Amino acid sequence: MDKKIIIAIDGFAGSGKSTTARLVAKELGYIYIDTGAMYRAVTLMWLRSGKELSESSICPLLENLKLELLQGNEGQIVLMNGEDVSGEIRTPAVSSYVSPVSALRCVRQKMVEQQREIGRKGGVVMDGRDIGTHVFPDAELKIFLNASVEERARRRQKELAENNIVESFENLVKNIQERDHYDSNREISPLRKANGAVEIDTTNITIEEQCLKIIELAKKILE
Ligand code: DC
Repeated sequence: MDKKIIIAIDGFAGSGKSTTARLVAKELGYIYIDTGAMYRAVTLMWLRSGKELSESSICPLLENLKLELLQGNEGQIVLMNGEDVSGEIRTPAVSSYVSPVSALRCVRQKMVEQQREIGRKGGVVMDGRDIGTHVFPDAELKIFLNASVEERARRRQKELAENNIVESFENLVKNIQERDHYDSNREISPLRKANGAVEIDTTNITIEEQCLKIIELAKKILE
């Protein structure tokens, strides 16, 4: 298959976007980009700075930020100015602040610029909140994933436990609801199902099943 398309996967926090995007990319031999990790890295950089949460204190920090996304066997590796922060960007502290940080105009501008550069030549599966609506509105395949809040909290709890992070189910539900609200109601590029996106509810299906659906859709386009 010579033709290389862009697959945009958007959806709510914990809807299975990252795992799905990674497995679909592996199957197609594509690059996998988890854009949420980029916003998480910016949030971590800001948390470490000890500065207040405002555009004027966060925007200058971006000038000294070099983000590299590497394809590891177990998923994407995120290097922040050369340091592997792949684990630290998943901590509850980062999760609590990532929505307001990612809502800032300067943060979004810089991340979107990098995402467009990475996906320019196609052959990429990118997951996030605004990939089909804003980053690549002309992507050949757009997917919108959804699942119940409880199921998404259960998945997050399992994922965190695998990284030895213990978080209560109630806190996770609260964090997910807050992020859903924030991500869907922010001024710039709010989370929306893109025009032409295929919606998949993943509450009662397995990761394998949702991947298969997307791979089938991709193969039809590539035929
Ligand atoms: O996918 P995630 O939960 O790791 O994303 C973390 C946050 O980053 C999410 O709450 C909203 C933001 N985000 C965004 O605004 N745009 C993207 N393309 C990806 C993530």
